[in-house]
Amino acid sequence: MNYWTVIPAAGQGKRMNAGISKQWIELLGRPVLAYTLDVFEKDPNCKGVILVGSEQELKQMKEFVQTFQYTKVREIVPGGSERQHSVYEGLKVVPEDCGLVLIHDAARPFITEHHIGQLVENAAKTGSAVLAVPLKDTVKRVVQNQVEETIDRSSLWAVQTPQAFRLSLVKQAHEKAADEKWVGTDDASLVERIGENVAIVMGDYHNIKLTTSDDLLFGQAILLERQGEKA
Ligand code: CTP
Ligand code: MG
Repeated sequence: MNYWTVIPAAGQGKRMNAGISKQWIELLGRPVLAYTLDVFEKDPNCKGVILVGSEQELKQMKEFVQTFQYTKVREIVPGGSERQHSVYEGLKVVPEDCGLVLIHDAARPFITEHHIGQLVENAAKTGSAVLAVPLKDTVKRVVQNQVEETIDRSSLWAVQTPQAFRLSLVKQAHEKAADEKWVGTDDASLVERIGENVAIVMGDYHNIKLTTSDDLLFGQAILLERQGEKA
């Protein structure tokens, strides 16, 4: 099934503390955003990409897209103060006949076409689906350095992007959250809030989000492994 992708890239990367926003960090000589965009540029089912950047970086982003010749980037729009606001700005310019819309963090460059395919197949049937992996760590709820509770891990999943939705559904969810000034950390949580089911599709432990500098080490290892596979 055809889809469009909204890529929020308007964050500041405070936890990474690299002095630049995360999509410009280079891994093996290429910016993170190039790895993220390559997958969608290649996938024939992806019919368009909306990039969301911070106001100050829009020009840089436009130049980047031109230099790297990404033909599927249809618009580059300014984001907002929270990720959710940035995504909403992107959703506003996705055409209504897009099929499905995928929302994917710029800072998650190791997504594969295979996992996008699995996600899209599921969302085409259900209307809302997200990639996720079972948690590996034991999780405890802690208050003031004291364990309050050990949470049963068997039902816990770490949710990733892309997340895929019918456009009208995710826009309605964003509009309601905006009206009520509710801010969530992913898009599925907004859809859950309007009473819709969200399906889980098995993701990949390599599909990490680059959040702190430790993630760059793992990221490089993933790329080296992939280069080795190709050689
Ligand atoms: N994002 C965005 N607009 C914001 C905040 C985040 O478009 N106002 C984007 C980021 O650019 C990133 C994705 O959302 O691609 C995931 O967010 P996160 O990992 O939190 O990135 P940052 O907000 O940049 O990092 P931090 O929270 O450490 O500052
Ligand atoms: Mg953030």
